[in-house]
Amino acid sequence: MPPVLDTRGRTLRNLRVSVTDRCNLRCGYCMPEEEYVWLPREDILHFGEIAALTDVFLELGVDKVRLTGGEPLLRRDLPRLVRMLAAKPRIRDLAMTTNGVLLAEHAPALKAAGLHRVTVSLDTLDPQRFARLTNRTTHAQVLEGIASVPRAGFTGTKLDTVVMRGVNDDELASLIEFGKSVPAEVRFIEYMDVGGATRWSMEQVVGRAEMLERLERRYGRIEPVVETSTAPADRFRLPDGTTFGIISSTTAPFCADCDRSRLTADGLWYLCLYATRGIDLRGPFRGGAGPEELKALITGGWRARTDRGAEDRLALGNRQPLVQIGGLKRDPHLEMHTRGG
Ligand code: GTP
Ligand code: 5AD
Ligand code: SF4
Repeated sequence: MPPVLDTRGRTLRNLRVSVTDRCNLRCGYCMPEEEYVWLPREDILHFGEIAALTDVFLELGVDKVRLTGGEPLLRRDLPRLVRMLAAKPRIRDLAMTTNGVLLAEHAPALKAAGLHRVTVSLDTLDPQRFARLTNRTTHAQVLEGIASVPRAGFTGTKLDTVVMRGVNDDELASLIEFGKSVPAEVRFIEYMDVGGATRWSMEQVVGRAEMLERLERRYGRIEPVVETSTAPADRFRLPDGTTFGIISSTTAPFCADCDRSRLTADGLWYLCLYATRGIDLRGPFRGGAGPEELKALITGGWRARTDRGAEDRLALGNRQPLVQIGGLKRDPHLEMHTRGG
């Protein structure tokens, strides 16, 4: 089957599956409130439903699947879903993004179930700072979780750091050094004005250019790694050969190559991180739509896709948070933690 292309010639290749909207941290850039409007329990897709919908995407050309949340390890029995997905030969890359808190206890089972790769969010090496950033005191568990990843036999591990001015921007080099010891590739993410980031301001964004400048002062000349990939990170190499990535969604978006879409835990399909509306797949699926009907729905949705959310945001002169708290309460699907960070 020829690849399904959107209006800008982008293929449908990368599916991010959020398995729960719940999270056990309260990071200031994503979930600054203590309480949220959660998705109704009965709407949450069962593993069988996720697997069946994933099959439809695989037939349309998707070959990268990433499990996200909220925090995916809050979903009971997640290795069972991993086993179901790992059995699908069309998935070339099956990964998971986690905050690491529950990772130490689950890493061996995830590996045994066939998960390929793990990415852990780590914004600071300092426990007190972690507590301020996340409103929780589980920093030690995150570090144990990270240590458990190579022990369980995973390779290709990544650590994701959202860099915020005056919060953790003094830790770039320490995080790179920590990454070497894991071993894991560190990626610095520009603070984004996505749903959920109600406290975002441009002043707090540390852009790619500034990150590189600071790291060059510490390490000497930094070379870009030349590669063609649709991954969001631009990769760089330090003089000692260590590589790291920068995801510059705020100052230099990768929309032109974006092959990703997102399935929320309740079965809505979003074609952009910044999209205000998703396509309901749960309704038709539970209403009895077969694979052909779902394929038509997904193909139609992707062919009509015009999204370039991060580029549109960049074009705005005076940037404010995307959605205010009232809007997020009315439609929790606008939250980053609902559509998978
Ligand atoms: P690999 O490169 O395959 O390892 O995965 P990934 O980088 O897509 O996954 P990960 O979940 O680690 O994503 C890293 C971060 O990139 C996210 O947490 C977001 O901050 C950002 N990001 C992920 N998806 C998107 C997207 O669709 N649009 C934009 N603008 N940013 C995204
Ligand atoms: N800016 C950048 N990345 C974010 N994430 C969530 N909110 C934001 C934001 N406002 C992503 C980060 C983090 C993961 C949990 O979600 O990658 O590591
Ligand atoms: Fe893709 Fe939208 Fe993110 Fe751009 S902003 S990279 S189109 S999801």
